[in-house]
Amino acid sequence: MERLVVEGGRPLEGAVRISGAKNAALPLLAACLLTDETCVLRNVPDLQDVRTLRKILAHVGLATFQRGLNAFELTVEEPGRCVAPYGLVSQMRASIYLLGPLVAKRGYAEVALPGGCVIGHRPVDLHLRGLEALGADLALENGTIIARAPGGLRGAEMDLSGPCGSSVGATANVVMAACLAEGQTVIHGAAREPDVTELIRFLQAMGARIEGSGSSTLRITGVPALGGAEQSVMPDRIEAATYAMAAALTGGDVLLEEVDLAHMGAVVEVLARAGVELSEDAPGAVRVRRGERLRAVKVSTTPYPGFPTDVQAQLLALLTQAKGTSVVRETIYPDRFMHVAELARMGAEIRKVGPTAVIQGPRPLSGAEVKATDLRAGAALVMAGLAAEGTTVVHDIHHIDRGYERIEDKLRGLGAAIYRETPSQTLRRAA
Ligand code: UD1
Repeated sequence: MERLVVEGGRPLEGAVRISGAKNAALPLLAACLLTDETCVLRNVPDLQDVRTLRKILAHVGLATFQRGLNAFELTVEEPGRCVAPYGLVSQMRASIYLLGPLVAKRGYAEVALPGGCVIGHRPVDLHLRGLEALGADLALENGTIIARAPGGLRGAEMDLSGPCGSSVGATANVVMAACLAEGQTVIHGAAREPDVTELIRFLQAMGARIEGSGSSTLRITGVPALGGAEQSVMPDRIEAATYAMAAALTGGDVLLEEVDLAHMGAVVEVLARAGVELSEDAPGAVRVRRGERLRAVKVSTTPYPGFPTDVQAQLLALLTQAKGTSVVRETIYPDRFMHVAELARMGAEIRKVGPTAVIQGPRPLSGAEVKATDLRAGAALVMAGLAAEGTTVVHDIHHIDRGYERIEDKLRGLGAAIYRETPSQTLRRAA
């Protein structure tokens, strides 16, 4: 297993280009199943999750051809293949995105119940509720969801809000299906995340009729067929927030390039309270600087436009160096705190009280061997390693590779001492 080895204590300085957004790219790739024509996606991040989804899509007949750096041409070549098998699906939760497009376009889908990040209980009931409302006949057989709609789907009115607010995935899945359903669909309680509005923009370019983008009520009028479209994936607001926090944690001065600050309001506001300034120097170029000292903050993760759960772990790493008592409440995934124990091993003083982390700072961090328990937890540990005294070795970095493009190259470009160690290098080091 590969590891990341980080020598801490160097402030990050320089410029880093932010990649296309993972969580926007995944539904865009799946949406290509909705048309017989060719689609082109640009600025697709080179990530393990993207590679896995491309494999799963190939399994259901969607051929993807690389057309230059980060660009793909996608065409359905074998529409008769409607089965997404467990071996691939278990590697990523976003495989559930195949369900809506397949049942809407082909009238049949078999998708194994997904796996993905271990961040607590992650049901798919809202996806199923929405597709059932559109008339899909659903059954669960041997761990596989079987969806049938031989006569096509029909528009319906539904509420997709769940116990923890709206669902990004369920909204995306049902919107994709509703584009080809007969008549009008109204979705109340729709997620407002930029990843959803990015998908809607793509579907509209394919000929879909969707109103209310960016709001919690979406109206979709079904069309008989969608055409091909081209789109460049928007910048990754979560990756941008991660590098911003890493810069602040190390007391550095970093320029984030190709960022859309409009999607980062809550992060900018929380960082400002913590003593970190994000300012747009030029369109898409955001400078991160921190004041004399970081300040403790109280924050709750909430659905967009609130503070994203996907940067909660990174914020915890940052707050280990903030003066005072910080309180971070997780309302989306109450169990998403596996990184707390790992950060504590590096010297952080964090107490978990139910769905809340209480952080006392600042506490000096020291390098340690730690484990990435999920994607964002892994990023938080790398960040802590950058600020720690001595050497940190982050294990299980396949989680990090799912969602960060060339993380060690980007950090090295900012002056960090970080490298990837292969198993044979580890053996040589131990000898
Ligand atoms: C997406 C993101 C993930 C992010 C999450 C929340 C992708 C590939 N992943 O995941 O990085 O952390 O949004 O912003 O885009 N829920 C249900 N029933 C369902 C579906 C969800 O109860 O059928 C609950 C979840 O348990 C959670 C909340 O709704 O508490 C939000 O989850 P959801 O927005 O669906 O997350 P994902 O789309 O899976």
